[in-house]
Amino acid sequence: VLLIDGEPDGGVSALDRGLHYGDGLFETLAVRDRRPLLLDRHLSRLQAGCARLGIEAPATAVLRREIEVVAATRELGVVKILFTRGRGGRGYAPPEGGRPTRIVLDYPWPDYPRDRTDRGVRVRMCATRLACNPRLAGLKHLNRLEQVLARSEWTDPEVAEGLMLDLEGAVVEGTMSNLFVVGGGRLLTPDLSRCGVAGVMRGLVLDLAHELGLPAAQTRVEAQDLDRASELFLSNSLIGLWPVRRLEERALEPGPVCRRLQAELRARGVLAVP
Ligand SMILES: Cc1ncc(COP(=O)(O)O)c(C=O)c1O
Repeated sequence: VLLIDGEPDGGVSALDRGLHYGDGLFETLAVRDRRPLLLDRHLSRLQAGCARLGIEAPATAVLRREIEVVAATRELGVVKILFTRGRGGRGYAPPEGGRPTRIVLDYPWPDYPRDRTDRGVRVRMCATRLACNPRLAGLKHLNRLEQVLARSEWTDPEVAEGLMLDLEGAVVEGTMSNLFVVGGGRLLTPDLSRCGVAGVMRGLVLDLAHELGLPAAQTRVEAQDLDRASELFLSNSLIGLWPVRRLEERALEPGPVCRRLQAELRARGVLAVP
């Protein structure tokens, strides 16, 4: 199902600023039993992103309803929302009184091998770096060329994800996921004040860590911190948590912190494939 501004199979203008400038935001939600998961968190991130970009935020009740309608077509699947600043003329200046464009569509569930959650995944380091821009940092905006280039670096289906560094060499995230590092008895995740996407699953994991009394911090992570880590794992809204079992040539084991958090996510019913 595809809804554009609420219209089934509606169209998008060739003048849409999402297309011209990537001037907009997106969300990707997991669907289980015809229900979108973590909907409130996704809607809040979208609202917060609109505020930062100066895009008029969507009427939450309307968007929520549209997401539910699209999700209801899938037992297990994915709903994607694109929200752009809408049509514009030539030139970067945002038009006055512009009306945002709202797109809601569904996809089949990605056929990730089932054992990734249990056995863990192989991960590589990407050569493509992330640019630093605090004004865009954390946003799930529509400019994703860095991820496109990074993901083009490998085709081996055995490699599930690639980690990306920023221009100064700090480790930021995966091409489609956030990173957690367990070291020195603490759960660490890269600080995203200069670049990266503040994932919904990352936010939930940090909240859970707090609730469970696991010491956790958002901090600068260097490549050496990965060498010293006792556990590494990846998060996103679709995969939940994937432990890393190999980073380049280094072998790791899924560890107790990841297992604990996976169990908690499962118990809370927020994973599409528990
Ligand atoms: C670049 C990037 N970082 C992080 C994430 C994780 O975000 P979320 O937990 O909201 O799915 C994604 C998800 O697609 C992503 O594309």
